[in-house]
Amino acid sequence: MTPDYRTEVGQLFGVQFPSAFDDPQFDARAELGRVLFHDRMLSQNGAVSCGSCHLQSHGFAEPKALSQGLRRELTERNASHLANPAQQFSYFWDGRANDLTTQVTMPIENHVEMGFRNLETLVLRLDQLDYYAPLFESAFGTEEASVDRIQQALSTFLSCLVTCRSEADAVLEQAMPEFWNPWSVLDGSMALEGFDALEKRGFELFHGSAQCANCHGGPHFNGWGMDFADIGLDHDPEESDVNAVNVGGFFGGWGPTAMKVPSLRNVALTAPYMHDGRFATLDAVLDHYSHGILDVPTLDARLRDWGNSTLLGGPVDITIEPIFFPVDIENVPPVRMDFTSEERAALKAFLHTLTDHAFVQDTRFSDPFVQR
Ligand code: HEC
Ligand code: HEC
Repeated sequence: MTPDYRTEVGQLFGVQFPSAFDDPQFDARAELGRVLFHDRMLSQNGAVSCGSCHLQSHGFAEPKALSQGLRRELTERNASHLANPAQQFSYFWDGRANDLTTQVTMPIENHVEMGFRNLETLVLRLDQLDYYAPLFESAFGTEEASVDRIQQALSTFLSCLVTCRSEADAVLEQAMPEFWNPWSVLDGSMALEGFDALEKRGFELFHGSAQCANCHGGPHFNGWGMDFADIGLDHDPEESDVNAVNVGGFFGGWGPTAMKVPSLRNVALTAPYMHDGRFATLDAVLDHYSHGILDVPTLDARLRDWGNSTLLGGPVDITIEPIFFPVDIENVPPVRMDFTSEERAALKAFLHTLTDHAFVQDTRFSDPFVQR
């Protein structure tokens, strides 16, 4: 790897390193987007705003397994948290959208979430709300609302939801200023100044033997924003209908049970976890990875126990991607990491360093309808 890796990876994957997009340019369009995001008038009966299900104090997730939409019906999935959405390639748990500008109006049209079947009706409503005229004027030069302008403003606001000031960011940026290279910690050539011993151990496990970074790798801890996997949860057979599409990950992650690898930024704030919010705590998540992975045919190859498998005639280096081996992967059992209490504490300590307190307190993102 050359020092240009940082730029090359940024160009290749379109993912920039946290410090590279630290200045979100919060302009008049973003301000309009902020008002739209928090305005309950964006739902057909005035009951919910985007912010009702995406709460800033919870990293823009909701602390409920499923969220209530405009008529109190429940959403099919756990409300995603929002962390650097502009740095991602696909949206929703099944990756069914891949363009932020058009994605932002999908919740408004969704009959469970906000219920505006025809977006032109929303445009007429906004034109009647007097506080919008000056906001549209400063954002776009004239007072009128339009579907295109609503999309532009909301996606500009979402692009400003940049989170890059966690404790981990401070430590990792200093440790690897040239390019993203966590392996140099593992081989001892890089020190991690700023992490205590437990956090450092957690970082090493995450990027080493616990194998988390095989999927949650990269500067957003989301597999560079383009990975999907089935992690061996029991899936409701009924749900395949709502989740029939995704673009497929690097390593065989496609099909109805493969979910987007979520970013772990702010993960300590975004409980409950998984696409259906089944796990209330990080301990429950770690229980799953430790000894709960189910032996399902669609289980991702990276969560199979290649090290102990005799299929290949002996232990295999998990860092060499096993999917390419000519074996019937369904015969390789799920991995059992059986974390010790020290390993569990270390992983949790590291996950807690991903919390960006400035992000969840940034008043530029807060609800303008709340009287301060
Ligand atoms: C009723 C609750 C609710 C409301 C209101 C709502 N959302 Fe969501 N949002 C969700 C749920 C649930 C998901 C995950 C859906 C899925 O994956 O199928 C989600 C996913 C998203 C995602 C994808 C994030 C990712 O990383 O994949 C974005 C972006 C988003 N919502 C933005 C918005 C915007 C903008 C609005 C307002 C116009 C909005 N949401 C309104 C519940 C809601
Ligand atoms: C094979 C890829 C893969 C590996 C390896 C992996 N994860 Fe995940 N992780 C995922 C996917 C995919 C999801 C979402 C699954 C779902 O909801 O069905 C997820 C979800 C999570 C969540 C919940 C996040 C949220 O917002 O709901 C946490 C926390 C998490 N993983 C932590 C870890 C840790 C810690 C490790 C290492 C012990 C790890 N993961 C290993 C792919 C992986």
